[in-house]
This record gives sequence, structure tokens and C-alpha cells, in this order.
Amino acid sequence: MTESYAIRTTGLTKSFGNIRAVNKLNLEIPYGKTYGLLGPNGAGKTTTVRILNAIISKTSGNASVGGFDIVLQSNDVKRICGFLPESPGLYSKLTAREFLEFIGELYSLPKEVILARVDELLELFDLEGRENDLLEGYSRGMKQKVCLCAALIQDPKIIFLDEPTSNLDPAAARIVKDLISILAKKADKTVFICTHLLDAAEELCDIIGIIVDGELKAEGTPKEIIESVGAKDLEDAYLKITGASHIDDLLAWRDENLNSHENKKGKKRKQKNLIKKLR
Ligand SMILES: Nc1ncnc2c1ncn2[C@@H]1O[C@H](COP(=O)(O)OP(=O)(O)OP(=O)(O)O)[C@@H](O)[C@H]1O
Ligand SMILES: [Mg+2]
Repeated sequence: MTESYAIRTTGLTKSFGNIRAVNKLNLEIPYGKTYGLLGPNGAGKTTTVRILNAIISKTSGNASVGGFDIVLQSNDVKRICGFLPESPGLYSKLTAREFLEFIGELYSLPKEVILARVDELLELFDLEGRENDLLEGYSRGMKQKVCLCAALIQDPKIIFLDEPTSNLDPAAARIVKDLISILAKKADKTVFICTHLLDAAEELCDIIGIIVDGELKAEGTPKEIIESVGAKDLEDAYLKITGASHIDDLLAWRDENLNSHENKKGKKRKQKNLIKKLR
């Protein structure tokens, strides 16, 4: 493996019919870094991570993950990556323990490693005592925790987390944030997160990319991004870069309506005056 970047894309593009979900994306993410991909709904974040995990195919461009080509070496990519999807599917008729053991077996982990890791992860996410309940009876947040356990079970080198804290209560979200920090700093993992939580991104990410309509609009450390647009914090920078700070513009239709209402009233007044004169 000669690739010096954990994740590298060149001109990566994905179209769904007329929709260009990812547009000529160029990323170079070094090993051991935590990268946060931010962007509005529909910007192309999930599509990007799905392509990088060889779940869906690209339309054009190239990408490698852990030095493996995502098309030619997709099995290697899947072997070295942990992936928490945005909308994970769970086998509802399995218990959490059965499901995690099954995932461990898919990665061909030795039985004793699987048992030890499942115990550790269940304890970490506070699922002990419920591990033998069927997943169909789990709450959304509990399911999210099981999916996080599944993403981590083979101790992946590179971890993709699409909205890792969605549905989690504040305590569980804190565990996930601490875990990401430990994985990156102590275990030297590369973590790629898609999130809308700007404070978490600022806290956890070494590098942030902001994507809008499939195109990378800004990239750098949180500090660099903030300074690049003269913003006061990452939220302010994000709103400026994504164009979402034009709330007044977005609500201009209200003024237009008000104006047209005023105009109508004015017009009526003029008409009345004219009628009076004519009389
Ligand atoms: N399977 C699909 N078929 C058609 N269009 C798709 C498909 N998947 C994604 N898209 C489109 O691609 C664009 C990017 O979607 P994507 O899910 O990557 O956005 P996102 O940045 O993850 O958004 P969110 O923040 O809402 O999760 C959207 O316009 C979406 O409608
Ligand atoms: Mg998404």
C-alpha cells in the first residue's frame, strides 16, 4: 500500500438522472485525521460516503480508501472500513447480541475476539441487560447505538459515520463524541463524519469540508474556515458559505406580499379620490 492518504478522491462525480449529487469532488485526507463533511440537506454528503464505502457506484472520477481503489478493490475497502449508514437496516428478528456476533462473523473475526468486543461495546453504549431482546423492540436511539457497535466491531482503520449522533440522547451523544476523539487521537484511526452539528464538528474535526450542491465550497481547519470568511464562529462561517445567512432574502416574499397589499390599498385610495373628483 503506497497511498499516503487514507481517503483520496479526484473528480469524483455521481449523477442520479438529472441530479448531480456529487460534482468533481477532490479530497485528500491524511491517515489519523478526523474529517467532517458539512452541508445542507441534499448537498451530497451521504452519496459521497456511500460511494467511498463501495455501496453505490460513482458516475466518473476516481477514489481510493486506505490505498484501495473503490471499484477495483471494493472488497478490501469494505474489509478495512467501518460504516455507520444514515438509515441503517437491522435484522429486527435478531437480538442485539446475535446481530453483532453475526456482523463480527461477516468480518471473519475469531469467535473469542467477537465475544470480547461485543461485551465491551454493549457495555460502552449502556446496552447491557437488553442485549438479548429482539431489535424490533429497541427504540430509535438504541438501534443507533447497535449500529455504532456494528461499525466498530472489526476495529476498523477508517471509520465513516453518517450523522452518528442522530436520535441519541445527550449522554449517548457525548459518549459518541468522546469515542470519536479517542479513536482519532489515541487509536490513530481516520474518522470521516457527516454531520449537521457544527459545535461537534468544531470540537472533533481536524479538517472540515463544506459541500453545497455536490461541490466542495470550503475546506480547512475550523479556524481556517472561520477566518476565510471573517466569521465569528463555525456556524456563522457555515451560514455564509452555504448562502443560508440570507434569511431576509429568503423571507422577502413576505415583504413583497405586504408591499403588494399596501400597493393595493394605495391603489384603492387613488381610485376613490378619482371617483370623487369625477363626481
Ligand atoms: N438513490 C437516489 N436516487 C435519486 N436521487 C438521489 C438518490 N440518493 C440521493 N439522491 C439525491 O442526491 C442529492 C444528494 O443527496 P444526499 O443524500 O447525498 O444528501 P445529504 O447531503 O446526505 O443530505 P442530508 O443532510 O439531508 O442527509 C439529493 O438531491 C438527493 O435527492
Ligand atoms: Mg445524508
